[in-house]
Amino acid sequence: MKYSRITGTGSYLPEKILTNAELERMVETSDDWIVSRTGVRERRIAAEGENTVDLAERAARPAIEAAGIDTQDIDLIVLATTTPDQVFPATACLLQKRLELHGCPAFDIQAVCTGFVYALDVADKFIRTESAKCALVVGAETFSRIIDWTDRATCVLFGDGAGAVIIQAQDAPGIISSHLHADGQYTSLLEVPAGVSQSYDKVRNGQAYVRMGGSEVFKVAVNTLGQIVDETLAANNMQKSDVTWLVPHQANIRIIAATARKLGISMDHVVVTVDRHGNTSAASIPLAFDEAVRDGRIKRDDTVLMEAFGGGFTWGSVLLKY
Ligand code: UT7
Repeated sequence: MKYSRITGTGSYLPEKILTNAELERMVETSDDWIVSRTGVRERRIAAEGENTVDLAERAARPAIEAAGIDTQDIDLIVLATTTPDQVFPATACLLQKRLELHGCPAFDIQAVCTGFVYALDVADKFIRTESAKCALVVGAETFSRIIDWTDRATCVLFGDGAGAVIIQAQDAPGIISSHLHADGQYTSLLEVPAGVSQSYDKVRNGQAYVRMGGSEVFKVAVNTLGQIVDETLAANNMQKSDVTWLVPHQANIRIIAATARKLGISMDHVVVTVDRHGNTSAASIPLAFDEAVRDGRIKRDDTVLMEAFGGGFTWGSVLLKY
């Protein structure tokens, strides 16, 4: 049986920085409230005309370069996004066109903030079953496009960005295990209540916005992420101390700290970007992972736990040897 291993990482953030001070002028909020309740100090916002595929391409190219592969070696593209450029084709296909690839499967995954974990697991399974040898896995979002900029409960939280990895077939892990879950009973706690089949007029009028019951989501997220840590370690007969790095979804520093406590890992071994990126949904884990690989914190053979929680609810983890 083959395993997959991450051989290259890349990421991209739009140029425009939106600070808490600027948000103070837009809605009734304060830098103090945002920092103490969420840990976010600033986030990036895509420029007009800069779309999810643009961000995805700018994350994918450095990942391809870091892996030292030829773009034509890619035989699978899986792209996680909640903010696709178009209803169809999939943003993965738009990216495929940019990369001048022809014929390999390319599709999007919609699992909101857990999207990258879902995408990585799916791509890993293609490689394990020898249906692919070299996959490009991307998390890319222009979440700013589905934000109600008059709703202080959500507009301070999110940002735009993209991250990517190349995974390739090898004889040893690599990705050790993945654990995916969803529970549709909570759909109304975190949603954009409009789409193609329902309330399309809101999409047309630019009023399809994120709605969230923040404190309810918070409680379920903390409990669920604690459980996924236990599930992942137990499945591999591993101890908490075997994990070198935690790369969590970046929704809220308090949720991240609670998961780190559960894992008994010091915050020095948790990759945190929420202060500078905000919550970039499916992009947050690959953005954080790329940052820590490139600055030398995450090293070859380190054991890394990625975990995420998001709309659906969806949640999951990937345990890997880098
Ligand atoms: O990534 C997908 C998953 N998403 C998450 O995991 C997000 C989970 N939720 C959270 O991170 C937190 O619940 C929030 C950061 C969204 C909110 O923090 P909280 O500590 O749960 O606050 P809250 O919603 O209970 O609101 C506390 C107060 C309220 O005022 P009252 O009712 O106590 O008078 C809110 O109206 O804070 C108020 N508030 C704000 N005040 C200033 C809400 N948003 C703001 C704001 N600025 N931006």
